[in-house]
Amino acid sequence: MKKLVILISGRGSNLQALLDARLPCRIAAVISNRPDAEGLDIARANDIPVEIVEHRNYADRDSFDVALAKAIDTFEPDIVALAGFMRILSNGFVARYHGRLVNIHPSLLPAYGGLHTHARALQDGVKIHGCTVHFVSPDLDHGPIIIQAAVPVLRDDSEQTLAARVLNQEHRIYPQAVKWLCNENIDLDNHGKVVFRNRKQSGFALVSPSLE
Ligand code: GRF
Repeated sequence: MKKLVILISGRGSNLQALLDARLPCRIAAVISNRPDAEGLDIARANDIPVEIVEHRNYADRDSFDVALAKAIDTFEPDIVALAGFMRILSNGFVARYHGRLVNIHPSLLPAYGGLHTHARALQDGVKIHGCTVHFVSPDLDHGPIIIQAAVPVLRDDSEQTLAARVLNQEHRIYPQAVKWLCNENIDLDNHGKVVFRNRKQSGFALVSPSLE
């Protein structure tokens, strides 16, 4: 059975979704860069080992990343999942976990990389927004895409209502993507493209606002 290490910085709702999914892998540890991350309590309540590698204790990104990799490697994971992990990782770190480091991002990448994705989507008046699970590459929020979910942006949406609609979908697609990795249903080819084995596809279109 493959081993998974999950990195968090905060609330941990995606961590909870990964736990709820009863994935076909062993969650070996949850690691946080913040000692007060609420998600640590979720891990502890589920008897998952937790580690804290506080970024503030390191002089620069590289030394933090070395310490983080050391903590991760103790658990010898096959897959490392960033679940609301709010630190930018160095190229060396990303290369070390090539093909087994994944992230969930609250937008339909490549649109709205970075922060404040929902506010920016509302500001632009887009009618469809969503979330993306992707392999992590050195280019922030630009790695090979594994799965996306789209949601409509409704007329009266606030940043909060839109965020909640997207988060519901995050909780569906992240466990799915990790499950594919656990079962070796997906891979990264030499061109950096995600290859699926035996995936069904649907031609369903989301139109927003809907047609009359
Ligand atoms: C999620 O919206 C995720 O997409 C983003 O950070 C947020 C983390 O939420 N990277 P949680 O800690 O999983 O509740």
